[in-house]
Amino acid sequence: MSLLKIGVFGAGRGEAMIRFLKSTREAQIVAVCDKVKDLLKPFEKYTGVICYTDFEKFILHDMDAVVLANYANEHAPYAIRCLNKGLHVFSEVLPVASLAEAAELVEAVEKSGKIYAYGENYCYMPASLEMKRMYESGRLGELEYAEGEYIHNCLPIWAEITYGEPDHWRNTMPATFYCTHSIGPILHATKLRPVSVTGFEIPYSAKCAMMGSKGGAAGIEMITLSNGAVLRSTHGNLCKNSIWYSMYGTKGRMESAREDADCGDMFTLYVNFDETEVSCDGHAEKVIPHDKFADIAAELGHKNSDYYPMHWFIEAIKGNKDADYVDVYEALDMALPGILAYVSILDGGAPKKIPDMRNEEERNKAKLDTRRMGKDFPPYSRGEITIDNAVYERLRSKLKNKEKKQ
Ligand SMILES: NC(=O)c1ccc[n+]([C@@H]2O[C@H](COP(=O)([O-])OP(=O)(O)OC[C@H]3O[C@@H](n4cnc5c(N)ncnc54)[C@H](O)[C@@H]3O)[C@@H](O)[C@H]2O)c1
Repeated sequence: MSLLKIGVFGAGRGEAMIRFLKSTREAQIVAVCDKVKDLLKPFEKYTGVICYTDFEKFILHDMDAVVLANYANEHAPYAIRCLNKGLHVFSEVLPVASLAEAAELVEAVEKSGKIYAYGENYCYMPASLEMKRMYESGRLGELEYAEGEYIHNCLPIWAEITYGEPDHWRNTMPATFYCTHSIGPILHATKLRPVSVTGFEIPYSAKCAMMGSKGGAAGIEMITLSNGAVLRSTHGNLCKNSIWYSMYGTKGRMESAREDADCGDMFTLYVNFDETEVSCDGHAEKVIPHDKFADIAAELGHKNSDYYPMHWFIEAIKGNKDADYVDVYEALDMALPGILAYVSILDGGAPKKIPDMRNEEERNKAKLDTRRMGKDFPPYSRGEITIDNAVYERLRSKLKNKEKKQ
């Protein structure tokens, strides 16, 4: 089989996938597209790679698959176009911006017969992978309660990641939408489905105002899973960073290390299992996860996790039935709780049922809900936030000064 030809749309985050493709013998990068010419410069000198600023020209390039690393609230329409053209799709987070898009995306994947892989890399951090292996071994028993956190204080990098644009998706996104880093690893490990959600929004803060962000500081989803277990997912812009997961099962507990504990964070897992469901004589054991990909994965970013989603995407295209990728249904299980948590917040905290997008009837119902992030949902539930243009001007000049120094 000749090398798979892959194009990357969005050259900011997309740079990580381009780096993967340059370093692998599994596939080749053949095209990159970004409307910002400066972002394309590093790739112009790559042999065999054509750079585009216009998606309409990029999509005509001879390719087998496309990586979507464009704006987080615009993935689904591009994914659907690529699938309809017969291309396999790897989508960065988030998969969709509305319930209607979710239904349309599933139908496009099913109709195309192509691989759709969701790039939820946090499922592949060393501790997340080890939790999945442990859960599958049965040593934890049945999941009863879990917690997932993705807290990222983005204040220092806000100018670089929003370019001082008032309407950048990061500035207009409701607090609960970016939920798949905190939910994903628990669902991927247990294969449980979310069935209902209640949302909470951490209030707007002085830091949000400095950043020019118009949404609440952080979001929380309290999710009931298909076996009755409860998952708390917390994510957003609080004052410290945390990537952390914990799972309680009928036979014990396992959790990754807290960053503040300075004992290896996502490179360390603590397990405390009992032999049976009624004994409580287990002792905590420190596990340092390592798998056959760990050394090569260490060369990529996000605590080794950037390697796996692309690797398994390519394996899935090649027909490997054991490819451990996140398919479209699982992607939506991870993302829909964030959308519906916000609907819950807007409805005074009433729990909302999460549709199973594998089911045609539930999908048809979802099609009727066309409210999109960035368009129909107010960024903040407690009233409109107005921000002085000087905030964005300051961010733009900070970015310009940084670029001058480089
Ligand atoms: N999984 C992770 O760990 C991780 C980390 C960072 C970002 N992301 C995701 O990656 C995606 C990209 O994020 P980002 O940080 O690069 O910022 P971003 O969303 O601002 O960047 C999107 C890029 O796509 C380009 N683009 C968008 N629409 C275009 C169009 N119509 N034509 C040409 N170019 C277009 C923009 O110019 C920009 O460079 C987002 O979905 C984000 O959620 C994921």
